[in-house]
Amino acid sequence: MNAPIPEHDPAQVDVDPYSLPLEALDVANPHLFAADRHEAWFRRLRDEAPVHYCATSVFGPYWSVTRYEDIMQVDTAHNTFSSEPAITIRDAEEDFPLPMFIAMDRPRHDEQRATVSPAVGAQALAGFEPIIRKRTIDVLESLPVGDTFNWVERVSIELTTRMLATLFDFPFEERRKLTLWSDVAVATPGMGLINSEEERRAHMLDCLLYFQGLWEERASAPEKNDFISMLAHGESTRDMPAEEYLGNLLLLIVGGNDTTRSTMSASVLCLHDNPGEFAKLSADQALIPSMVSETIRWQTPLAHMRRRAKVDTELGGQTIRAGDKVVMWYVSGNRDERMFDDPGAFRIERENVRKHIAFGFGIHRCMGNRLAELQLRILWEEILARFERVEVVGPPVRTPSVFVKGYTELPIRLVPRG
Ligand code: HEM
Repeated sequence: MNAPIPEHDPAQVDVDPYSLPLEALDVANPHLFAADRHEAWFRRLRDEAPVHYCATSVFGPYWSVTRYEDIMQVDTAHNTFSSEPAITIRDAEEDFPLPMFIAMDRPRHDEQRATVSPAVGAQALAGFEPIIRKRTIDVLESLPVGDTFNWVERVSIELTTRMLATLFDFPFEERRKLTLWSDVAVATPGMGLINSEEERRAHMLDCLLYFQGLWEERASAPEKNDFISMLAHGESTRDMPAEEYLGNLLLLIVGGNDTTRSTMSASVLCLHDNPGEFAKLSADQALIPSMVSETIRWQTPLAHMRRRAKVDTELGGQTIRAGDKVVMWYVSGNRDERMFDDPGAFRIERENVRKHIAFGFGIHRCMGNRLAELQLRILWEEILARFERVEVVGPPVRTPSVFVKGYTELPIRLVPRG
């Protein structure tokens, strides 16, 4: 029998959050994110209840932490706030646990992270740069100039999937399997890709089966610099059970995929909506790195990470009890007026642009942040070399999720350089 589909109220998108009693606010509704209506809800929480308890939700009771400084405090207090057993507001399924190092505390987290992090370290990135550039050029030159097409599908998904195939040394022709598994892993049942947890599980088992074949191949060969080989040879990972292999695979697939993909789409959208900023960028390409950081702040591709209080503790004047679920809303911290001047504006020369919290902080800070920035920098260097403008010609379609903050469609028309 299929598990019941969580029921999020679609009518919430038309509700003015200021008309509700504070205790009734539940920001964890994917409809709010799909309709791009979440910001007013978070603004009210930041101003009136920055550490807020929601007693009833589809995901059970949870605390929302919405101010930048409070998020930093939770993200760096590893002894008070645990990443186990899961890092999204949705609970892990008890009969289908997926251990992964992002959802582990010390010391296991540190050992496993150290095993795979060289795959995206400085030396590896230097080697990737020419590959990324060549692929970016190939993809951009294959686009139908003058016609309308979906940027998400043709550019953002294609480039991030190719990168992921390289990181895993995954059979290149089959790379869209990675896209599917990544999307299924984070999909909201009943809102698109899958209808139930059982369906998700079936896809995940396909994924495991496929990767088990690659594991056997890599384990019997000398170690190489790809994720699977590193896991198969690493001292702390080579004997891990199948479910932990699957968990870590999903972490690396989702971590490297949706996030960079959303940033690639958001950068086009932001620069289209802010022609003055686009003019500055076209005139001075040295602004590309800060434009990339500003896009990551503005978009915040992962809306939240969650923790579990290990002990009773105080935060923002509230008492959080041991065992409570605590959600750090990066999407709100990055729009905190106390940290960022005019936070809703997209400003590529923002002074504190690198202070955004979209990569998290503390021991779990994003492992692939430099790789994501590199991919974005190269993409914009190559766009500016060939196109006068990247025009958004219709409304974007947003991902219905409270975790992955992204797009499924962005209709584009390219104007070539004259
Ligand atoms: C962790 C965001 C790109 C791999 C994280 C975390 C966030 C994040 C918020 C959790 C931080 C915390 O809990 O404090 C992003 C964003 C990206 C991006 C916004 C792109 C713009 C990537 C890429 C990879 C990657 C390209 C490459 C594989 C990981 C991994 C972790 C992680 C493995 C777990 C780290 C740990 O637990 O120690 N990322 N990420 N991410 N990210 Fe990323």
